[in-house]
Amino acid sequence: MNRRINDILKAGQPDEVVTVQGWVRTKRELKDFSFLEINDGSSMGNLQVILTDDIPDYNPLLKQINTGASVEVAGTLVPSQGKGQSIELKASSLIVYGECPADYPLQKKRHSFEFLRTIAHLRARTNTLGAVMRVRNACAAAIHNFFQEKGFLWVHTPIITASDCEGAGELFTVTNLDFNGKKIDFSEDFFGKRAYLTVSGQLEAEVMAMAFQNVYTFGPTFRAENSNTSRHLAEFWMVEPEMAFCDIEGDQDLAEEFLKYIFKFVLDNCQEDMEFFNERIDKTVLSTAENIINNEFARITYTDAVDLLLKSDRTFDFPVEWGVDLQSEHERYLAEELFKKPLIVTNYPKTIKAFYMRLNDDDKTVAAMDILAPKIGEIIGGSQREERLDVLIERIKEQGMNPEDLWWYLDLRKYGTVPHAGFGLGFERLVQFMTGMANIRDVIPFPRTPLSAEF
Ligand code: 4AD
Ligand code: MG
Repeated sequence: MNRRINDILKAGQPDEVVTVQGWVRTKRELKDFSFLEINDGSSMGNLQVILTDDIPDYNPLLKQINTGASVEVAGTLVPSQGKGQSIELKASSLIVYGECPADYPLQKKRHSFEFLRTIAHLRARTNTLGAVMRVRNACAAAIHNFFQEKGFLWVHTPIITASDCEGAGELFTVTNLDFNGKKIDFSEDFFGKRAYLTVSGQLEAEVMAMAFQNVYTFGPTFRAENSNTSRHLAEFWMVEPEMAFCDIEGDQDLAEEFLKYIFKFVLDNCQEDMEFFNERIDKTVLSTAENIINNEFARITYTDAVDLLLKSDRTFDFPVEWGVDLQSEHERYLAEELFKKPLIVTNYPKTIKAFYMRLNDDDKTVAAMDILAPKIGEIIGGSQREERLDVLIERIKEQGMNPEDLWWYLDLRKYGTVPHAGFGLGFERLVQFMTGMANIRDVIPFPRTPLSAEF
């Protein structure tokens, strides 16, 4: 493997002989020599390369090189004369792997994120998308580190499932039937019953937690919600820990510690990229991260949240009333303006939450907890699970579902049931929160949204 540019920029010493490979960002031709800026995706910074006619075929090679061309350069590191970088590469040989004609869409100018979405196959080569993908990677690494350090088992829950975990009916059907206008008989389908893409790995994670105590899933989930917003995707990644012998308090404590850990890890490991976001995308990115790491999250009940919203002098598009789900505008008002930090809201009305959440003694609310983040709104949704068989059956029926379809889930309550709890973190919302990116479509390489699955 050749040296990566990130490593050269950080640790390269004069006189070192190196070979690098990457894509040309810019070419500047001067009288007796030329400069290339090369990027290989490993860092925000480019490596400056000096080409002189010492290298074989200097003139014909130079003609082949344009912005976007792929090259390999071998040479010696030298202290930089210019400003902006401390080291540069004096080339002794050059290979052009692929030329790049002038219709390459990423010429040196600023492009809107909307435009970049139409060239998702090329946009990863831009500064912003490059920084997003490196921060996204660091978030994923932090998540695994966090759980592995705590002894959680990473379990792989299925992508194809027959159950609607959230009961919200936002399911994509999976079929191999050629239905050609005919009425579909799912008993003849591949799985002998109607199957879907999963909306959450939780139910299966609960199964695994009933054997291993502490587990987590981290995988893609799918929701056919037709909300064309800056915070919804049809395909997104979710991290779902599940803990046996844990209640709603322990659930909140873990979620808070978890978010703090990820922010600290990213600040420690992606300094340059985070500074870029702070400068170019959202001036509050670094102060928000420090705020998360250093301050306790606020914790209030849903009932108190509704009171606060009713008392506020703000007029909302959606009126607030006990029993109605909080809208994004309410969530953001609470987290962004009132508390100015993440806020954990607990004990929501049972009528607006999923069947599996544990019923509280008041018979009206469930042991749910949502974490609301400034600018994002809900970033985590979790709960203590209903571990009492009879209560769970009642709740399933209340929500118009059939307990028989969930016989295996109910068995967990029959055979050695324990109190348990967990939550789901929307991975793209986390990356949005971390980077300040306004639209969720710009924090995932290939966004899936209504009418959009080109790449
Ligand atoms: O609140 P949700 O629906 O919770 C669950 O699915 C639970 N089964 C999780 C659990 O307890 N194991 O979704 C969890 C999180 C949300 O808080 C949000 O951050 C994210 O998933 N999310 C989405 N992210 C992007 N696009 C969408 N369409 C999303 N829907 C939910
Ligand atoms: Mg939710």
